[in-house]
Amino acid sequence: MDMLLFQLERDSDKPLYDQLYNGIKEAIISKKITVGEKLPSKRKLADFLNISQTTIEIAYAQLLAEGYIMSKSRIGYFVEEIDELPYIQQDTMASINEYPKKKSYKIDFNPGSIDIDAFPFQTWRKYAKELFDDTSKELLLTGEPQGELSLRTEIANYLYQSRGVVCHPEQIVIGSGTEQLLPMILRLFNEDTSFALENPGYPAVHRMFSQHKRKVYPIAVDEEGIIIHDLEKTNANVVYITPSHQFPTGAVLSATRRAQALNWAAQSTSRYIIEDDYDSEFRYAGKPIPALHALDRNDKVIYMSTFTKSLMPSLRVAYFVLPPKLLATYNDVFNYYSSTVPRFDQHIVANFMGDGHFAKHLNRMRKIYRKKHDKLTSILEKYSSSINITGEQAGMHILLEVQHTFSEKQLQQLASQAEIGIYPLSAYRLDHYESSQAQFLLGFGGIPVQAIESSIEQLMDCWSIQKNDPST
Ligand SMILES: Cc1ncc(COP(=O)(O)O)c(C=O)c1O
Repeated sequence: MDMLLFQLERDSDKPLYDQLYNGIKEAIISKKITVGEKLPSKRKLADFLNISQTTIEIAYAQLLAEGYIMSKSRIGYFVEEIDELPYIQQDTMASINEYPKKKSYKIDFNPGSIDIDAFPFQTWRKYAKELFDDTSKELLLTGEPQGELSLRTEIANYLYQSRGVVCHPEQIVIGSGTEQLLPMILRLFNEDTSFALENPGYPAVHRMFSQHKRKVYPIAVDEEGIIIHDLEKTNANVVYITPSHQFPTGAVLSATRRAQALNWAAQSTSRYIIEDDYDSEFRYAGKPIPALHALDRNDKVIYMSTFTKSLMPSLRVAYFVLPPKLLATYNDVFNYYSSTVPRFDQHIVANFMGDGHFAKHLNRMRKIYRKKHDKLTSILEKYSSSINITGEQAGMHILLEVQHTFSEKQLQQLASQAEIGIYPLSAYRLDHYESSQAQFLLGFGGIPVQAIESSIEQLMDCWSIQKNDPST
């Protein structure tokens, strides 16, 4: 065997034994050293490479342990036959690295983005630091399936004070995101149950229902939210809605429709409403509107919400509140499940809420988003002869209607060429129907307030839309 194969880098941070081990291993894998070949003795190789015999001993021991070589007593080490290489082939490796990366834009109006500059890291770190300590060693063990009682209690208090939702911590189930919780809710209903969904709506929810092969009735949405008269014409038993801020149109469910929805549900024991209150914390016009759940006198509303908008999407903490009747079904179906959220994370959130930091954070974020919202709407006002905005009363996105000779797709392409991410409304419809007037979701949560004006100007420029003529 050619001992010169191994070029050791003495200045490297990588220990010499590791370099030697990797060098020999790669030579075996690439068949530069053939099966049955004898490796140089430790003494000879040590002399040749001018390193200690111990270094060689460690490298050989590792190769031996991993089955690349075998030892024959008093004769030496020999390369072993390896049936199948436990390593990814080079071409596979290359294709993994070539996997298409998510498109990134210079300006991204992604409705899912939040402000990441105002997060109270210091406070969060304090709670994390306190918890990762042996006084909390009990948290190393599996917790309660519905989530930690302390967090469920904080959520129940918060829901009562800020959303008018009256519930007991026992009714609350915590899970890692709406995406994980909604399929659990589906499992509370038998196969014959049919569902109705807002159209347009949240694509993750559309996908979830189709993946679970559930019968779905798409129900149209107008400026008052979901059209309950259309729901009444279907055989749906359960309807999923976003009453506080319809996703994606931004419509707020009117008082009349709220009453109609609750009356619809009250007409049959099998009927329920799933209320997704995902971004209700951020409202810019008028007084906060209580959740639909707060008006429900018949235990017909399954309330769900998330910390994705109010804290961070990466936390993956959401929850639902079950009416008592469904709680019994839940206890039957999910008796053996563990919570999907780490206990430490749950306690950080609970302590953060319990000490008043969540309320403080929400107040602060509300001011920040209001500033962004006001800036965005005032800049867009300058283009009002060519555009129209709706859904601007709450949340972190608005709906932009563009009067243009180009289609939604063509306008999106123009924006994409200018490295601007813009999200067409058709992508949120169950049938991807494109209306004659182009409409886009314009998320402002992730754009710094000082960048809003230039971002809008660049968007309008790429569409050749001019500001209003001041003389008219
Ligand atoms: C309608 C709706 N529900 C829920 C969520 C949050 O989902 P998750 O809790 O899985 O992050 C979003 C996020 O954008 C949403 O738009």
